[in-house]
Amino acid sequence: MLTSNIARDKNGSLLFAGQKVSALADRYATPLYLMDEARIRENCRMYKSAFRAAFGDAALPLYAGKACAFKQMYRIMAEEGMGVDAVSRGEIYTALAAGFPASRIWFHGDGKTDEDIRFALEHGVGFFVVDGEEELCALNAEAARRGIRQKILLRVTPGIDPHTYEAVNTGRVDVKFGVPIGTGQALEFVKAALGAKHVELCGLHCHVGSMVFDESVFEDTADLMFAFMRRLRDELGYVTGTLDLGGGYGVRYVEADKQADIPGRIAALACHMRALAEETGLPMPEILMEPGRSIVADAGLTVYTVSAVKRIPGFKNHVIVDGGMTDNPRYCLYGSRYTVLPAETDAGETAVFDLAGRCCESGDILQPAVTLPAGMKRGDRVAVCTTGAYNYAMASNYNRLGRPPVVMLRDGESYVAVKREEPDTLCALDV
Ligand code: LLP
Repeated sequence: MLTSNIARDKNGSLLFAGQKVSALADRYATPLYLMDEARIRENCRMYKSAFRAAFGDAALPLYAGKACAFKQMYRIMAEEGMGVDAVSRGEIYTALAAGFPASRIWFHGDGKTDEDIRFALEHGVGFFVVDGEEELCALNAEAARRGIRQKILLRVTPGIDPHTYEAVNTGRVDVKFGVPIGTGQALEFVKAALGAKHVELCGLHCHVGSMVFDESVFEDTADLMFAFMRRLRDELGYVTGTLDLGGGYGVRYVEADKQADIPGRIAALACHMRALAEETGLPMPEILMEPGRSIVADAGLTVYTVSAVKRIPGFKNHVIVDGGMTDNPRYCLYGSRYTVLPAETDAGETAVFDLAGRCCESGDILQPAVTLPAGMKRGDRVAVCTTGAYNYAMASNYNRLGRPPVVMLRDGESYVAVKREEPDTLCALDV
């Protein structure tokens, strides 16, 4: 199976985290997001131990909440001793509401408003990852009003192509995030931060992309960052204390995808960085990384019930389900590949179908050309695997559809972490 938490029992029924998917669908109704709590925790522990071994005790993995954020997720992150990368007041509010410590939140984002800045300072958020000079000025002014000195990292753009898909390519010089090193603007940015009295410059941040498999991307990024850090020392006398290399390790969505050896990649990266530190005479900075997808993707599975099966002889077959681009827009947006499995037996004759959603547009496809039992019919269940990252987080209410609930699976039991949005929930804000 694609991931070790997916299996079939002796009758062929699909199991996720050891529990029967169709029974969970009966109990909670569909569409339904399932999440394997043990897998989320294992992934956190994998990062923590890889970090400790590679970089020492001060190194901290920050969970990028944009991948999947709700209160229970932040409780898990708090229990696992992770830091958190938050990009909005909503994410910060959710983390705090879950009891996540503000001091372990790094506030990212290229479009922070004055209100966001006030909110984060009010609640004592640990670090701002400042995206540009305008934000720096606004933050410095607000911190001055409050008589505090806010810890910050500066987001710089190293100018690197991570060889991933366009929408998540964030390392190139001309992207909207951060301040480019190559144009000389990042050096000016650092100067400005050093001159701002109400911020404390703790280091630098960069994030080059998501779904990164290319093994040298982080090493190449470290080369560029160390070269920049050397300039900062030589020209400004500034020694970078913390280096945050962002998120991005890829996960397996289909059998053909590689399995990234994340602890192995982190160990190799640490080795590479120690050599860079020696070569440049710079002290090894404290290292942060911000994995999102690789913490939660394989902990998720979405279950649907088939509403209709349309066979158009000589053309194609459609399996239409009770969810769609509203709960998983990733194929529509990025052409993302997914593994689709029938919830009951996969034995017997098969046929190829497009797995389509219920939204009123032809582009509402969850996955084209999937192989399913030839006799698929209304009422059957199908599961889409590896939906823990950027599915619930990117869900919408298009066509006034409610978001599915998130049900957590733990030790053979299940519990609701996020309730289903019902029509009255959708009307709750209407006046
Ligand atoms: N740090 C920063 C600054 C980021 O922008 C991101 C992702 C991460 C960390 C986490 O990256 P990860 O480990 O999850 O790859 N919606 C897209 C993904 C967008 C990623 C945005 N930034 C998708 O569904 O593929």
